[in-house]
Amino acid sequence: MGLSVVILAAGQGTRMRSTLPKVLHKLAHKPLVEHVIDCAKQLGADDIHVVYGHGGDAVPSTLSHCKVDWVKQEQQLGTGHAVAQAIPHIPLEHQVLVLYGDVPLSSVETLKNLIQLTRQSGFGLLTISLDDATGYGRIVRNEEGRVTRIVEHKDASEEQRLIKEVNTGILATSREMLAKWLEQLDNNNSQGEYYLTDIIAMAVADGISISTTSPLDEHEVLGVNNKRQLAELERAYQSQQANILMDAGVTLCDPSRIDIRGNVNCGHDVIIDTNVILEGDIDIQSGVEIGPNCLIINSKIEQGVKILANCVIENAVIGKDSKVGPFARIRPETVLSENTHIGNFVEIKKATIGNGSKVNHLSYVGDSIVGSNVNIGAGTITCNYDGANKHLTEIGDDVFVGSDTQLVAPVKIGNGSTIAAGSTITKDVGEGELALSRTKQVSKSGWKRPIKNKD
Ligand code: UD1
Ligand code: CA
Repeated sequence: MGLSVVILAAGQGTRMRSTLPKVLHKLAHKPLVEHVIDCAKQLGADDIHVVYGHGGDAVPSTLSHCKVDWVKQEQQLGTGHAVAQAIPHIPLEHQVLVLYGDVPLSSVETLKNLIQLTRQSGFGLLTISLDDATGYGRIVRNEEGRVTRIVEHKDASEEQRLIKEVNTGILATSREMLAKWLEQLDNNNSQGEYYLTDIIAMAVADGISISTTSPLDEHEVLGVNNKRQLAELERAYQSQQANILMDAGVTLCDPSRIDIRGNVNCGHDVIIDTNVILEGDIDIQSGVEIGPNCLIINSKIEQGVKILANCVIENAVIGKDSKVGPFARIRPETVLSENTHIGNFVEIKKATIGNGSKVNHLSYVGDSIVGSNVNIGAGTITCNYDGANKHLTEIGDDVFVGSDTQLVAPVKIGNGSTIAAGSTITKDVGEGELALSRTKQVSKSGWKRPIKNKD
């Protein structure tokens, strides 16, 4: 039987106190609803329908890269009304799973379990027992323990409010029955809304027994209504991610001080110090050590690399056994080959640095191809930009660039050449040559320093 997932994401989220629609607020750098969409994809859903409304087209346009069916709910008349909007888009013989755009951490295992139960009984409901059930719909069961209905908090009696088992909102059933029950909904309740939860009693009246299951972790079913809850779920997510890394053998100096905002792949014997942020797709090979306070985005860090404190690395490859930092900035399209050293206050942009080459202090190397065993002295700048265009600097193998050199691109520096410190290089340097472009030093003996005027 095919599976359709309906994700409710039309609500306003007033308590976020933001002009951004609630489901676009980010958890681990990804919009809340995108977490839910990705989960639905992992479940193997045949089609995904996202019901949006509040905030106009901001939700579908921000998430235009997500291949889903966008269903507009013009007026937010309740959760039952929201699901009904998607029904005409769902193939007749499908099962339907309802998820929420502001409940980002549901696990694939829990939902697979729910779908399995639904296949057996015809109706699956995800519930959880909470010490403080305030605000939630309560699960009403009969003497035999069978679910008979859900009563919303606002409509519940004093006695019903004592029930600790609550509706997570997540449920699954057949499209055929769902469509039939949704047509029968009314809004005769304290909120004047079409409640999805009213279909439970209808299903029971149709002789269906409701199967229930609970998530392993409470965070799986918690929704985001305000910034505090967003922060709480962010921490829960980060703690899960840290556990995954540690289970794979990574040493985290403090698992509560790492942030994973993407997909991280780690080899063995990796050590990550505190306050490291890993974003996008990150591949960290075996034996890598990452110092404190580093931000690494979409990069590959090869075997044995040491990244010292306070580095920012983006869209780069750091070659085997290289050493970067402290305080280095490696910008997009940089490839460091094996055994390179990039030191403090060095910025590398769109450059390839050959095996064993060193740029140890206070330099800018941009739009460059640097050979192997090159030593670039402190304060060297590639002048790559003429105000309109970027130009290439090519440096051969075994070159020695003295400190405080400007290489005015486009320029080629031949193999084995030497550039004297303090030079401004505007012309190509041939293989094995010494290039030197300093002004001659003038020394005046007995020089009297100027004295400050008295006034
Ligand atoms: C709902 C359930 C309640 C459950 C709780 C779990 C109903 C009637 N109640 O209550 O039993 O315990 O969730 O969190 O279903 N939405 C739309 N369109 C609408 C209304 C809502 O898309 O017209 C979306 C909201 O954006 C939100 C979700 O549906 O993501 C839930 O709506 P909300 O109003 O928060 O329902 P609750 O009152 O929390
Ligand atoms: Ca809610």
